[in-house]
Amino acid sequence: MPHRRFDRERSGFRSGNFMLLPFAPTAEKTKDQRYNMNRRDFLTSAARAFVVAGGGSAWAGSVFAAETPPRLAMPPIIDTRASGKLAMTAKVGSSSFLGGPAVPTAGYNQSYLGPTVIMQNGPLAAEIGNTLDEPVSVHWHGMKVKGDHDGGPHQPVHPGKIWKPDMQVNQDPSTIWYHSHIHGRTAQQVYNGLAGVIHITDGRDDDRGLPSAYGIDDLTLVLQDRSFDRNGRMVYEPSMMDRMHGFHGNRMLINGQSGAVAAVPNGIVRLRLLNGSNARIYNLFFSDGRPLHLAATDGGYLPQLVALDVLQLAPGERAEILVDFSGANAPVLMSDPNQAYGVLEFALDETLPARITSLPDKIGSPLEELVGLDTQTRMISLDMGMGMMMGGGGFAINGQPFDMDRIDLKVALGSVERWIIRSSMVAHPFHIHGVQFRVLSEDGLPPRPECTGWKDTVLVPGETEILARFEHPADKENAFMFHCHILEHEDAGMMGQFTVS
Ligand code: C2O
Ligand code: CU
Ligand code: CU
Repeated sequence: MPHRRFDRERSGFRSGNFMLLPFAPTAEKTKDQRYNMNRRDFLTSAARAFVVAGGGSAWAGSVFAAETPPRLAMPPIIDTRASGKLAMTAKVGSSSFLGGPAVPTAGYNQSYLGPTVIMQNGPLAAEIGNTLDEPVSVHWHGMKVKGDHDGGPHQPVHPGKIWKPDMQVNQDPSTIWYHSHIHGRTAQQVYNGLAGVIHITDGRDDDRGLPSAYGIDDLTLVLQDRSFDRNGRMVYEPSMMDRMHGFHGNRMLINGQSGAVAAVPNGIVRLRLLNGSNARIYNLFFSDGRPLHLAATDGGYLPQLVALDVLQLAPGERAEILVDFSGANAPVLMSDPNQAYGVLEFALDETLPARITSLPDKIGSPLEELVGLDTQTRMISLDMGMGMMMGGGGFAINGQPFDMDRIDLKVALGSVERWIIRSSMVAHPFHIHGVQFRVLSEDGLPPRPECTGWKDTVLVPGETEILARFEHPADKENAFMFHCHILEHEDAGMMGQFTVS
């Protein structure tokens, strides 16, 4: 089956009337050219891998001079399997990223980001506290739970209060995540650190031949670009331009760490990748061209591995890949073959056990198809209009900016629907709460390999058709969201909501 490769041209500004707007990508391009090292410089220098930007300031210079880069740490674990309980509290923190001054940040149970939560199917009683002085939430992105447990804008946790959803976990093993989701504040809150990863597991990864030793051969990697000023202070000051393109940083943080090196055993390693960035799309590849073996998409395992040279990951998306690190040299994980920058450097550590030494041929069961089960087709247009040039409006879905009091769609419980999603002006990562879906086509072609499994978020460069099955109820007080996962777009109104009954 012919697969369409990601077309970079089309991921940028689309042709059409809107090309005339005076915010052509030149501004962004100039910034990137100024900051990015090109691939050849990168590969021939001994530079560390964390640079999206960074040349030029005294602070960045001192980073390069660091002799032994720190070892990348995994987030701490909360394993809920024995207790069926999960307690997390959102708190303010103070974080200094690689020697820069400390800045106020936020996290769950810690200063920046939150623990990796391990879950299995069954009941889970969560208690979410909030010691910030503004409402936050914990939205379980990728979890199939009912509307009142979703943790979206309708379930804020007010300062000093505790939210106690009694959830039922019931879904395939997968890497999903959680983050705050207060309407109008999501971009800032996630940027500040209110996000973390969830592993749903059935305990059978050894049978599948998959690496599963946390932090040894099973690495959880939260990819975030953040912006640092000349003094090394992390800043979030989106300009009008940043609000339109989404906010892009000038430096990579992996699990909240900058410049750290990931130690790996001399064998097969699983990388669970989360794009936790506000707006940046990664096109990931290895500096030595070794393949990325895609094992799982947002919602779970593929039937077998798919070897990729480049893996695209848009904001909100996850991918699990297997990488063969056996051999003498570990490569650098990089992004964007056309304008490369380092994302994460790896180093072999012979003291780590290489538990898995060959790639499994089969991982999951065949994917269930939804083709032909759909009973309704809807058009979803992700709109960026002229209005924003005149004072910040213009972000909408089907012409209407988000309104907490308006239900946009009513979906029948148990039904399968075909949604045809169209992007205007830029490629928008489209996400739906409470479901996993399958991608049917991308611009009339079969989906790229990255989009062949179960998904909850998909980058829509032009027109993308999906099939979703709505299995969990949501009433109008607890409606599910569908939105662009460029957080600045979402906050500005590119979001809608639906009930399922
Ligand atoms: Cu990851 Cu509605 O969000
Ligand atoms: Cu979500
Ligand atoms: Cu968008």
